[in-house]
Parts: sequence; structure tokens; C-alpha cells
Amino acid sequence: MKSGVMLRIIIAIMCGSVFALLYIQFLPPGKGTMKSAGALEEIRKDQTVKPKIPQSLKLEHEELHAELAKAVKAGGATGSAAEIVAKLLHPHFVKEEEYALPPLGLMSLLAEGKVTPEMEGVLEMTDKLKVELPRMLEEHHNIVEALKKLSAAAEKEKKTEYVRFAEKLMLHARNEEEVLYPAAILVGEYIKLKLNK
Ligand SMILES: [Fe+2]
Ligand SMILES: [Fe+2]
Repeated sequence: MKSGVMLRIIIAIMCGSVFALLYIQFLPPGKGTMKSAGALEEIRKDQTVKPKIPQSLKLEHEELHAELAKAVKAGGATGSAAEIVAKLLHPHFVKEEEYALPPLGLMSLLAEGKVTPEMEGVLEMTDKLKVELPRMLEEHHNIVEALKKLSAAAEKEKKTEYVRFAEKLMLHARNEEEVLYPAAILVGEYIKLKLNK
């Protein structure tokens, strides 16, 4: 009796799987992906009105934040040096996430040749970045100086993971100076040209 019930359950599962496979197989082309494509289109439309920081950059910032918090907790001279970095870095990240990085969320659309009037809203950010750029670079300079001290303290205390962290954060700042900030400014300049602003 017990094995009979088991057998029926197995047959029911097998039938269900076969029906599911047949359903997917005979769906009209694209039907299975229509909803996600529509959702994607919505996201892209929303992005033109209020651009968001590309996920990869957002995650990088979060990771750096988490590692710095760990360095602060490491204690000793390393912890004290990390605390100074944190005080300089936090307001800087806030500014970046407010107006320096969101314009980069439009890059893939612009590369596809898509420019819409709604994109004009981003000019407020890119113009602000242009004005604030010297101050942002000065902040980078101060952060890098603090990171050099963190690196030296970590080296001395043999907390090598924070030596690597300091290098990583310095590289992050350099990448912003050489690539990301200029790219964000160019996003604004390109949109101005295309919309005749
Ligand atoms: Fe940053
Ligand atoms: Fe930065």
C-alpha cells in the first residue's frame, strides 16, 4: 500500500515535469521573456529621467566602505589611521553618489545612440561635477595622504590585508580621476550637444 502511494507520487511528479517542458517548448517566440523585456524597458525609461549609479560602481563603493569599517575595528595604529581615512572618505563618497557617479548610468544608452529630452535632467549633476572637480581632486589628495599613513601603520603591525586595502582605495581614486569623472562630465557635454543646449 505504502509503495503504491509512493509510485503514484512519482508518476504525478513525472507528468508535471513533462507538461511543464511541453508548455515551455510550444510557447510563441519571445512570450516567455516578454514580461522581463517590458520591465527592462521601464527601468531604462526611468534611468533617463533619474539616472542611477551603475551597479558595479555602487558595489565597489559598498565593498570599500565595509573593508574600511573592518580596518577601523582592527585597533592599534592601523585602526586609528583607518579612522582618519573614514572621516575624509565618507563625505566624499556622499558627494560622488549624489552627482559624480549617477551620470555614468546613462553611458550604455548613449552608446546605443539613444538620447532623449528627459536626459536633460542629468546636466544639473554634470555641471555641478565640473564646478566641484578641483575640490574633489583635493579631497582625493587628502585621502591618499591618509591612506599612505594607514598603509605604513598596517605594514608595521603586520596587518597586511590593510596594506592591500590602502592600495585598492588609492587605485579607486586614480580610476575616478583618469576615467570616471571625465566620463561623467563628457556624458553632460554630449547630451548638451545632442539636445542643442
Ligand atoms: Fe569613489
Ligand atoms: Fe573619489
